[in-house]
Amino acid sequence: MNLKDIYINFFVSKGHKQIPSAPVVPENDPSVLFNTAGMQPLIPYLMGQSHPYGTRLCDYQKCIRTNDLEEVGDVTHHTFFEMLGNWSLGDYFKDESIEWSFELLTKHINIPVERLAVTVFAGNDVIPFDEVSYNKWLSLGISEKRIAKTVEDNFWIAGESGPCGPDTEIFYFRSEDEIPESFDPEDSRWVEIWNNVFMQYHKDNNGVVTELPKKNVDTGMGVERTTAILEGVNDNYLSSIWKDVIDLIVSISGLSYEGNERSMRIIADHLRTAVFISADPAGIKPSNTDQGYILRRLIRRAIRHAKTLNIDINSDWEEKIANLILDKYQDYYKELVDNREVVLEVLRNEKNKFSKTLEKGLREFEKVTRDGKDIDGETAFHLFDTYGFPLELTVELANERNLKVDEDGFAIKFKEHQEKSRTASAGKFKGGLAGNSEVETKYHTATHLLNAALKVVVGPDVHQKGSNITDERMRFDFSCDHKLSDEEKQRAEELVNQWISEGLDVVVEEMPKEEAIASGAECMFIEKYPDIVTVYSIGDVSKELCGGPHVKNTSELGLFKIKKEEASSAGVRRIKAVLEEK
Ligand code: ALA
Repeated sequence: MNLKDIYINFFVSKGHKQIPSAPVVPENDPSVLFNTAGMQPLIPYLMGQSHPYGTRLCDYQKCIRTNDLEEVGDVTHHTFFEMLGNWSLGDYFKDESIEWSFELLTKHINIPVERLAVTVFAGNDVIPFDEVSYNKWLSLGISEKRIAKTVEDNFWIAGESGPCGPDTEIFYFRSEDEIPESFDPEDSRWVEIWNNVFMQYHKDNNGVVTELPKKNVDTGMGVERTTAILEGVNDNYLSSIWKDVIDLIVSISGLSYEGNERSMRIIADHLRTAVFISADPAGIKPSNTDQGYILRRLIRRAIRHAKTLNIDINSDWEEKIANLILDKYQDYYKELVDNREVVLEVLRNEKNKFSKTLEKGLREFEKVTRDGKDIDGETAFHLFDTYGFPLELTVELANERNLKVDEDGFAIKFKEHQEKSRTASAGKFKGGLAGNSEVETKYHTATHLLNAALKVVVGPDVHQKGSNITDERMRFDFSCDHKLSDEEKQRAEELVNQWISEGLDVVVEEMPKEEAIASGAECMFIEKYPDIVTVYSIGDVSKELCGGPHVKNTSELGLFKIKKEEASSAGVRRIKAVLEEK
């Protein structure tokens, strides 16, 4: 059995319910591009909302951390990883949490106690020393010398604000050396494998800390790192998680791993992450903003390293690797089964796009660096704009030659370009790394209202078939077997405007998918949704499964106007509509 199965079985045997991994693109949190920890999708429940699956939960969660993207290539860094976690939502606390972690590690994955050490929270002006955890570890047979007390490293929070609390971290001695009697958390032979956070506080945006309504436990264990440890390898990419992917890259390139580790690891890591992003229900495609830009960077960097290994990038190398990754994970993540073709197409299209300019871009790069001069902003922008080199790729190429890139200069050029395009296309170019704009959010809510209005005016069989939103208009495709009459259009428009002027509240809830469907919530592709879904209701006129975001009240929308109604395809009509200031 692998680590994931052992972990889940263990916590299920301790009364936990396994919850499905949430999508890797957060459904209702525009402040982050990706889930970075198992607790992230659970924040509302850690804050006090009751969870439909109860008070003891466990899962493996898809996580993506891109702040270390450039570090990938060494033995430990990955952009995508799976985090094992178990949670108590106001149920058990420190004693059981520590006891079960110890039991799982020593009895089920058979780590000898001598190889373990822990840290506990030492205490500060606000929160006292965590005596309970300290004593618990002692009672389980961890010697005093193997329990270190720290302040900074034993307080956990995701980012700057949110639920948080003191933690106890578990370390493993990963070395052939004799195990020192005393534990020093700074000694790199000791590696952290598990973090148990006792989440009983909330820190707001002003830094004010208050008690949460309930005392929770949030734990996290990285699958990649712990698997490598258990398998006794120092290079994560030699563990069973990666070995066959690396072997395939070896066979495709005809080169050995030794001497080509960095490029091979980058290809393996980046393609795995690209597979998970493009299989996510959010439907992310490579682009120049937000998650799409991360996806583009990952694929393009993998392509460039494939070229470094002399792989014929126009062959189906990426498809072979992606298929292996999909095969390896599909039993755990159903979206990989459903979206295999989508994933392969995303990779293929991006490859086709980039392979056309990569060669020329690399030649251009050689040319501009021939005299050994650093790269100015204009040149970096030229490589981006003309040859599709993400800035980070240019920086990486430059670093390999000990050259610098004027990144600020690039940002200025980028902005100038954006502004030009904005003027040229009257605001169509969506720049920066912002999420949905305010205007798009309004259109999003208007889409739900139009859907509801058409059901009243045309009939209950009207269902959404597609939608597309820009800052200027919305487009809504729906099932309908006839051209709408002028009267139907007018009535639909009037209904939407009536609901806008009624100032209806938009309410968001999470619930199991079955419950949502049973309650009559509308949704487009039921199979695309995870088991726990987000449902947006607008007064009592509309209820839909949806990832949001939406306005808080319909009064924010302005005046709704249908501009056009036309055929889209057989049995599907299309409405274009706008929101105007009242
Ligand atoms: N949320 C904690 C972490 O990510 C468990 O380390």
